[in-house]
Amino acid sequence: MGITAYDAVMAHYADKSGVDFILVGDSVGTTQLGFETTVPVTLEMMLHHTAAVARAQPRALLVADMPFALARADFDKLMDASCRLMQEAGAEAVKIEGDAALAPHVARLTSAGIPVMGHIGLLPQQFHQLGGYRTYGRTESEKQVLLEDALALEEAGCFAILCEMTDSMFSGTLSSELKVPLIGIGSGPHCDGQILVSNDVLGLGHKPVPSFVKEYVQLGDQVESAFSAYVEEVRNRRFPS
Ligand code: KIV
Repeated sequence: MGITAYDAVMAHYADKSGVDFILVGDSVGTTQLGFETTVPVTLEMMLHHTAAVARAQPRALLVADMPFALARADFDKLMDASCRLMQEAGAEAVKIEGDAALAPHVARLTSAGIPVMGHIGLLPQQFHQLGGYRTYGRTESEKQVLLEDALALEEAGCFAILCEMTDSMFSGTLSSELKVPLIGIGSGPHCDGQILVSNDVLGLGHKPVPSFVKEYVQLGDQVESAFSAYVEEVRNRRFPS
């Protein structure tokens, strides 16, 4: 089971919660950096945030997202990015969004000792191509494609596969077809593990969260009232006392 974190503070608390892995997701772009999608997130941004999370020295496995399009670039660029995420920033594995077409690149990474988590189903980095978010794996043809993607990525050496917004019942089928763990997000209860975006879990954002999310606390409201109390006390000369 995993959760995302983007800085040392959140990584500290995530690690104390007992999660198995912390993902420095490229969701950093939408949750922290104010972008509309994950597309503008660069390798330099991922290095910066991954290094911050690594400084918390988490016990949990530290996975860093490969940013937009890099996995589809030539292999040397992908290899270089993976090495930088691991050697410079301290990631222990990389996550790559993509289908069976990426399997040859993934196989070369894993044979070089780079642990790779696959990511199938909804691929947010393809937002502009997809035109929106929806559930995958509802039609027979999509089920077939997703199964082939998952099996090809497993064969290429992925140690786990994340499936995002994949039909709940079909996720159960995928999980039973795979030997490696299937980690779901918005994919129902039949996966082997789950991941959520930390800002969503914490109710810490100013935009609506996806319907599959469970907000365990409304931290945004608490932050706002703490800041408001501070402003009010300073303006009324009650702080500092
Ligand atoms: O970037 C991210 O946060 C993700 C989610 C699917 C967990 O990839």
